[in-house]
Amino acid sequence: MFDYNSTVLAVLNQKGGVGKTTVASIIAEYAALYSKRHVLVVDLDMQCNSSDYWVGMETAPQATGGQLPPAHPEFDGDPDLEERSSIADIFFGKAVLPHSTYINEDNGFKFSVDVMVGHPALLERVNTEFDNASGKIASEIINRLGEFLHMPEVAETYDLIILDTGPSRNPIFRAAVRAATHAIIPFEPEEKSIQGINAMLQVLHSENFSRTDEDQLKLVGLCPNKVRSNTKIHKGTLNMLHEELGNAMFPEDIYLPQSTAFPERDLKGITPKSIYEIPPSHTARKKSEVVGEYVMAAL
Ligand SMILES: Nc1ncnc2c1ncn2[C@@H]1O[C@H](COP(=O)(O)OP(=O)(O)OP(=O)(O)O)[C@@H](O)[C@H]1O
Ligand SMILES: [Mg+2]
Repeated sequence: MFDYNSTVLAVLNQKGGVGKTTVASIIAEYAALYSKRHVLVVDLDMQCNSSDYWVGMETAPQATGGQLPPAHPEFDGDPDLEERSSIADIFFGKAVLPHSTYINEDNGFKFSVDVMVGHPALLERVNTEFDNASGKIASEIINRLGEFLHMPEVAETYDLIILDTGPSRNPIFRAAVRAATHAIIPFEPEEKSIQGINAMLQVLHSENFSRTDEDQLKLVGLCPNKVRSNTKIHKGTLNMLHEELGNAMFPEDIYLPQSTAFPERDLKGITPKSIYEIPPSHTARKKSEVVGEYVMAAL
């Protein structure tokens, strides 16, 4: 095992499309822009949506998943690194180069967001090769991400590490849970979301069962997303969840509303890029600030 040195927030939900990538980017932006944190986003999803949002993936129709991470601008032929450096490399015994994003010192920001991009083919290889691995090999692989992210050099460089995960419980997902010190679970307030929520709570529970008291994985909370607060169904589901899950839930007025402002940020070349650059009176921005503030206070 390893010592937990860094603050590592995993964004988890095995249900797809609930807002993991959106929440990961909003918290990363908030932490750097408002909370004076040097942030590292790690993309552990084979879909690589975070990598595409922050750095841009290369279209590659022949490659698994149709995308490749970009060649790293600082790659100098070092045999310990891959030219298309990605977080997947650490599972194959290599180091990884983080990419800078538009939030960096050269652009006038005091605190930066860096990204360790994903690699669809290599992440898939880790998942298939190690899915049926024997206990010892499997746990070695699952610990590898945590061993890397909690190295003293990494802990000194970044104040906050955010893990964007994919919608399935594969070895990479298990590695994210093992590496995390904190977890946030975005969900949509609908009847069928409950299953995903309960499954994630069980994952945290069993992970904590194998950890010492000092190293318990803390749930920051269940973050309602795509909320239409004026609809009966959303109001009803949220009330029910508050009653059943108590303070595992975000407080009642802290959530992200349904808004086109969120998908708009995903468009290539769009400005403003950040939700925090749209007018302060916009509900999507106001709520994103409240969510950011709440999460930062919980870390
Ligand atoms: N509050 C919101 N209002 C409107 N659209 C949203 C909101 N949050 C996210 N979306 C959009 O919903 C889609 C899914 O969101 P996102 O990619 O963040 O989910 P995800 O959980 O990461 O999905 P996956 O499981 O595939 O990784 C995206 O197009 C995103 O822009
Ligand atoms: Mg995603």
